[in-house]
Amino acid sequence: SPPAIIAPSILSADFAELGKACSDTIAQGADWLHVDIMDGHFVPNMTFGAPVVTKIRSHVDRPTGAYGKGTFDCHMMISEPKRWVRDFQKAGCDLYCFHYEAAVDSTAADSPAGTSSAKTSPKELIRFIHENGMQAGIAVKPKTSVDVLWDILDNPEEVERPDMVLVMTVEPGFGGQSFMASELPKVTELRKRYPELPIEVDGGLSEKTIDQAADAGANVIVAGSAVFGAADPGDVIKKLREAVDG
Ligand code: DX5
Ligand code: ZN
Repeated sequence: SPPAIIAPSILSADFAELGKACSDTIAQGADWLHVDIMDGHFVPNMTFGAPVVTKIRSHVDRPTGAYGKGTFDCHMMISEPKRWVRDFQKAGCDLYCFHYEAAVDSTAADSPAGTSSAKTSPKELIRFIHENGMQAGIAVKPKTSVDVLWDILDNPEEVERPDMVLVMTVEPGFGGQSFMASELPKVTELRKRYPELPIEVDGGLSEKTIDQAADAGANVIVAGSAVFGAADPGDVIKKLREAVDG
């Protein structure tokens, strides 16, 4: 697998001190910040949008290259992923990770007049994200088979291929849920086919569950409650990294 990338989810940080939480976490050894964007429609919870990302972005140095330290990894749990690409690029998002389910769901096409159509194919959306200067990630919920990804990952058009796959290890919507080991065969299969692909796992990752995820081949590790709930977040980040890098 590629080297470990530890991406604390700021969903579990103190939202009243979000800028400081971001800079502190990077100083404690985090590689990326995982930024959970929820619209109350794709998932039964709401967080914040591009204006907040703009404000917290200034607390962390921009990455110098793809996948670099300080990457803002925006996990878009939203029904209309195409609609918000430009706003998030302007806000300082580096990696725009949309959900496969939202990109293919025709019921999401009822966007207000004058906005870009919500209905788009994953490969068109990946191209659009790249054209807007961001890396593109594609996420799958627990009920979605990993088989939907092969065509997308094997696309001969490089600009339409994702830079990362996110395998959800909880139902998206809330921090602090239990890790679903049932999702790990997806990671194993992805890693077997794509030895160099960044594979992210998100939900219930901690010192207790990291070994299973690392053994399956995950290298991008999201952890919210395990990092922000710890007395020593830096120590948790270090242990997660060691489990992946061996
Ligand atoms: C859940 C979010 C996660 C969440 C993870 O919908 O996508 O990023 O913050 O939180 P923990 O690590 O506490 O499960
Ligand atoms: Zn997330």
